[in-house]
Amino acid sequence: DWKLQDVLQEQIQTIKGMVGLEDHVICALSGGVDSTVAATLVHKAIGSRLHCVFVDNGLLRYKERERVMATFESELHLPVTCVDAVEQFLSKLKGVTDPERKRKIIGGEFIHIFDEFCLILEKDLGKKPKFLVQGTLYPDVIESCPPPGSGRNHSHTIKSHHNVGGLPEEMKLKLIEPLRWLFKDEVRKLGEILNVPRGFLKRHPFPGPGLAVRILGDVTELNALETLRLVDEIFINSIKDAGLYDSIWQAFAVFLPVKTVGVQGDRRTHSHAVALRAITSEDGMTADWYQFEPKFLAEVSAKICNSVRGVNRVVYDITSKPPSTVEWE
Ligand code: XMP
Repeated sequence: DWKLQDVLQEQIQTIKGMVGLEDHVICALSGGVDSTVAATLVHKAIGSRLHCVFVDNGLLRYKERERVMATFESELHLPVTCVDAVEQFLSKLKGVTDPERKRKIIGGEFIHIFDEFCLILEKDLGKKPKFLVQGTLYPDVIESCPPPGSGRNHSHTIKSHHNVGGLPEEMKLKLIEPLRWLFKDEVRKLGEILNVPRGFLKRHPFPGPGLAVRILGDVTELNALETLRLVDEIFINSIKDAGLYDSIWQAFAVFLPVKTVGVQGDRRTHSHAVALRAITSEDGMTADWYQFEPKFLAEVSAKICNSVRGVNRVVYDITSKPPSTVEWE
């Protein structure tokens, strides 16, 4: 794709110009398409002066940390520091139920961690990193900070995506956002040009605030994280086994803090309901719910109720965007 080849060369030159020959850059990797492609691009421009960090915030999917770290090492050959911040995030989220507050808290904690990471690097390198790479895409920019003339203003912001909106003044890190003008499909193509393994490029998007926006209410209560991880893993594996993963833009489970009555074996149960969501989309800005065969949904539902303790009901989300958003929070 000649246009993306141009974008690539242009971005490499811009980054080289911005960073110069001496300065250092940090990048938070999430294991997703955007941050991986952004990091690979910046690595091409400035090599070992890029320092990547992967944060386990306790809001990741089943075995995500182990899986992502192993792949970075074996397939991408990008050196990555893993920070265990599970307690740090979860203690701040305790008792918080408001979706926007959750997002703000998580965004704030990420900033603290980047700050600490910079201090550690400063000790090692003798100088403070000056730049931070973010895999912000064009739709994130539009939804968080609607451009003038779009008919929306800040008071109408739909969700504060934690990775948009800049950094606090005192941090003094300048942002490098090489994907800021691209849509997801373009990022995937750019990743191909950069030889990012297909496994990364094909991954469904995963939001920065992680499972926190897929657990309604307090994420630290009701064994919600553990339950949601198991349900999500069953759903995604079933989708992969059915050969449907690549035809779906994004699929995931949502934990509902409501209990419903069920009957399992010959016993009455009073357990949690979970929702499944799968969508097709071009860019995440609008989406259609995915029409599975009823047989597929029946099998997934049975598997979930049979193997995940504390779940006795599965519902499927049949709303498109709009009127719903993709994530439930
Ligand atoms: P919504 O829920 O806003 O989601 O319709 C649109 C797409 O964006 C993802 N999403 C996020 N991505 N940080 C991210 O990097 C975030 O805070 C965030 N919130 C939502 C969502 O998964 C979907 O693909």
